[in-house]
Amino acid sequence: MCVATNSADVEGDAMSRRGRFITVEGGEGAGKSTCIDSIRRHLEVAGRRVVVTREPGGTPLAEEIRGLLLGQHDGGMANDTELLLVFAARADHIARVIRPALERGDWVLSDRFTDATYAYQGGGRGLGDERIALLENFVQGDLRPDLTLLLDLPVTIGLARAAGREAAPDRFEREAAAFFERVRAAYRERAAREPERFRIIDASQPLDQVMARIGEVLDAYDG
Ligand code: TMP
Repeated sequence: MCVATNSADVEGDAMSRRGRFITVEGGEGAGKSTCIDSIRRHLEVAGRRVVVTREPGGTPLAEEIRGLLLGQHDGGMANDTELLLVFAARADHIARVIRPALERGDWVLSDRFTDATYAYQGGGRGLGDERIALLENFVQGDLRPDLTLLLDLPVTIGLARAAGREAAPDRFEREAAAFFERVRAAYRERAAREPERFRIIDASQPLDQVMARIGEVLDAYDG
């Protein structure tokens, strides 16, 4: 028997099977790693298959590019080189991990994505949003996060927390407080511009309160 379908039904089916793309963003010392662990558990309890990943990175090649981005180089790194490396890593990550997972119906939970480029390269380095938007369209096509949790806290608190870590600071962590103030301002500006996608979480609160707030946000999103 031949069952008639129209293209709207087929597209609707593909959309309902597609997983959701959740990103977690924030400045230094925001507690992203701990929160990502708890978000993954929350989604899995709700029956979702979750792929946890990160940027820059998420594939062997993109992790190599991460090493270039975070490492020190004699003579430094030109801002345009940094921007292009970020998107080179992202292109591999999208092609090999993010799109295949979403198409399988898995949910993707990424520790940072393109909002970090607008914040760090756009805000921190002072590169224009226009060129970032150009690369975003070129590399991502129509791929955008469905939900973004911004772990927001005052720069002084974040830097004090990060200073307590044992690992040597990477190329970004060596930046001055003014750099991170610009990063924070750029993140908050993006959140204000897209309130339907962003949820701002007050990450200066004690961890249990931050987790509880994130749980509420996820229940409201995927209840
Ligand atoms: P982290 O995720 O471990 O904090 O380290 C990644 C660093 O890379 C962080 O300092 C922010 C920086 N970064 C950018 O500058 N641009 C980007 O697009 C991304 C994803 C990260």
